[in-house]
Amino acid sequence: MAFNIGILISGNGSNMLNIIKASKSGEINSKIVTVVSNNSDALGIKKAKKHNINTKTINHKLYSKNDFEKNLLDHLKKKNVNLICLAGFMKVLSADFIKRCNFKIINIHPSLLPSFKGLDTHKRAINMNVKYSGCTIHYVNKDIDSGPIIDQEIVRITKNDNELSLKKKILMKEHKLYIKVLKNLEKNCE
Ligand code: GAR
Repeated sequence: MAFNIGILISGNGSNMLNIIKASKSGEINSKIVTVVSNNSDALGIKKAKKHNINTKTINHKLYSKNDFEKNLLDHLKKKNVNLICLAGFMKVLSADFIKRCNFKIINIHPSLLPSFKGLDTHKRAINMNVKYSGCTIHYVNKDIDSGPIIDQEIVRITKNDNELSLKKKILMKEHKLYIKVLKNLEKNCE
């Protein structure tokens, strides 16, 4: 099945750009029908525009949570989205929003869940001296970073790694993992 994907971002948008490129090159069959940011300064919005993708910014600071989510859902429905990909989207979606979405929502997180849920994952992994970290793609449910895990990639942490080097290593794996998961979802939802 080819999805109409809506990508939600808050910042840089490297995962977003990678998904857009995979769609444009035909590596995945799905189309990116919109990119939405909750942050008006998100660099990712400029990147999406350069690729002629529909974009929308809904500045969360200007709305109540309820109104923010209502605008978001109305827009996604208008664009006929049937799969939401969170890619560095740093707002928590409410249980009510998730319930009202009658399509899948997936998220990428830069750790091997269930370890290091929440923020500052790279710093915490380095400080805890763990030997492996990685990234996880999971379905989104009402609890933060806790929905059913779809797939993961492992990254070895060496003694020379710091927060930044680990972030870069994991991000490279994230890009591969997102495309792998989308291909599998396309295949499994025939
Ligand atoms: C990625 O590392 C992603 O896993 C993380 O934000 C970064 C966004 O990078 N997401 C979270 O921490 C969500 N809890 P990008 O904007 O370059 O894709």
